[in-house]
Amino acid sequence: MQKKPFKESLIGERVELRRPAATMEHAKEMFALLIRNEFFYPWRLSLVELKSAEECLALILRRLGEFDAMRSVYYDIYADGVYIGEVYARDIDYSSNAVKNFGYFMDSPFTRQGLATESVRILETELFTNGVHRICLFCHFFDPAVLNMASETVAKKRGYTFEGTSRDALYDKRNDRYASERMFSKLSTDDDSMKF
Ligand SMILES: CC(C)(COP(=O)(O)OP(=O)(O)OC[C@H]1O[C@@H](n2cnc3c(N)ncnc32)[C@H](O)[C@@H]1OP(=O)(O)O)[C@@H](O)C(=O)NCCC(=O)NCCS
Repeated sequence: MQKKPFKESLIGERVELRRPAATMEHAKEMFALLIRNEFFYPWRLSLVELKSAEECLALILRRLGEFDAMRSVYYDIYADGVYIGEVYARDIDYSSNAVKNFGYFMDSPFTRQGLATESVRILETELFTNGVHRICLFCHFFDPAVLNMASETVAKKRGYTFEGTSRDALYDKRNDRYASERMFSKLSTDDDSMKF
């Protein structure tokens, strides 16, 4: 697999994936989305401790550096011109043609409409077309009785295979507790029509 610059945008039927804008206006928009949804940025998992729009802008700039270096790709999801979420492929390993950490989040008013699934399909197709062989994603949970079913359903709808659980793989510093991860993967050779 050759390194190849990522496209500025990818257009789907209902969503458009766009390279994040490096502006304070967008950083404010992103911070507000994360806060109102109480995502693991910064509350639920506290892995990335974002405390302000300024810190969000610094994160966007760091991510754009990775985008340009072709190490990771982050796309903002837009529907009808409105910013509604994000889909990303982090830690691309060009020696094994693998994406180590694929993920997504969506603003709650726009959930349950298939928009995350469509966004995953668009980015995944781009990655496989560019020579990626394996995509790996993780669904975190704190309590085995309360799994991240929305995230897992998106993965399963896209034909990802459950590979196992990494117990207490992540430490939630803010709340002094561990999160486990359920790992899913998809190969370029998997049957895309496969449903679970
Ligand atoms: C995961 C997430 C992106 C899904 O977004 P979305 O736009 O609702 O996704 P879609 O509509 O494409 O598909 C969601 C599916 O999960 C299902 N679902 C949602 N909540 C569920 C629950 N609690 N239990 C079971 N299924 C659930 C929906 O019914 C839908 O399936 P369907 O189309 O067969 O009805 C969104 O819930 C989110 O941002 N969650 C928080 C961040 C996160 O956990 N990201 C994953 C990190 S890898």
